Amino acid sequence: MSGHDPFQRVTAIVDLGAVERNCATMAADLASGTELCAVVKADGYGHGMGECADAALRGGATRLAVATATEAFELRERVGAEIPILVMGALTGAELDVALQARAELPVWRAEFFEALAERAGMFGFRPRVHVKYDSGMGRLGEREPHGVVRLADAAASDERIELAGVWTHFATADEDDEDYLRGQLDRFREVALPIQERHPGITLHAANSAATLRGPEFHFGMVRCGVAIYGLDPFGRDAAPHGLEPALSLHTYVADVKRFHEGDSAGYGRTWRAPADTWIAVLPTGYGDGYRRGLSNDCDVLVGGVRRPLVGTISMDNVTVDLGSTTEVEVGEPAVLIGSQSEEEISAEQLADRLGTINYEITCGLTRRVPRAYRN
Ligand SMILES: Cc1ncc(COP(=O)(O)O)c(C=O)c1O
Repeated sequence: MSGHDPFQRVTAIVDLGAVERNCATMAADLASGTELCAVVKADGYGHGMGECADAALRGGATRLAVATATEAFELRERVGAEIPILVMGALTGAELDVALQARAELPVWRAEFFEALAERAGMFGFRPRVHVKYDSGMGRLGEREPHGVVRLADAAASDERIELAGVWTHFATADEDDEDYLRGQLDRFREVALPIQERHPGITLHAANSAATLRGPEFHFGMVRCGVAIYGLDPFGRDAAPHGLEPALSLHTYVADVKRFHEGDSAGYGRTWRAPADTWIAVLPTGYGDGYRRGLSNDCDVLVGGVRRPLVGTISMDNVTVDLGSTTEVEVGEPAVLIGSQSEEEISAEQLADRLGTINYEITCGLTRRVPRAYRN
């Protein structure tokens, strides 16, 4: 994916065909009967929620998940009435009404919330489907006590105002090499959830994010909730290619200026870089205002003319500078790639995350609204 629309200062090109293929790849390796739920919260991890939801459904996802009521509402308008949408996050009273209007499936773990939900449900004229969340070791949302989970699930199953749809949990360390803690969570979940499913056979159990899904069928249950992998990002923070996944997003800008620097000349705020010798510098009109993080200052590469070039100087809100060295072949208007490939070279979200001491999720989620998303198939 190269080429830059010369009318755009910076563009995130999202390859929806890649999202579709990534879903098909994930779906192909699921245990028999397991459904793929595509996680499209946070605007599809920065890729665009609605567009990616459509692509995921084309690729074999049969369900969608988001974090908030507003996301569920927007998504429902996009995908129509039939596709199940799960809200995974905590909801205030007002948000609960929005989620109910969206006919979303809802998480429960507190008795008070369960009661509020059951009461509100009558006013909406349908039986909301609820998923009881067990905190088996994430230490975040969910009921920690196994008997509390059983009590809530049985209460939901016997309450005519609502429908028990599932029991679920979330893993804290599925992306780590050491599986001990993960297996402890899996065992605790099985111990609590399987007997509930025996009593209420129609329900769906689910636990796996992308990393756990890639570890194999014992983590799959009735459904997996995959986010990062469907965008072609590696849940283990290394390289997505060995998993058969293709990065969907690339980030493009252009060379707005090229100038001669003499030895000792400095680029950008604070003069954090000075030319060690005479050189050529390209100015690219993008910066941390677009989500191209300032922490990458003097510490990452950019692709210009099919070559990896060091970014030099401090990243500004709207500009960065790149050392072209002695080449005089780069011209104003040429495309530059911040994430993605040019010729044989590639810069991945994982590489940028590694430089920043963060995760690939944060790189794509962090691209701001100022960056137009252009969709390709
Ligand atoms: C509860 C829950 N399930 C599933 C996911 C998807 O995780 P991943 O993007 O690692 O597949 C998330 C994402 O943060 C989550 O919060």
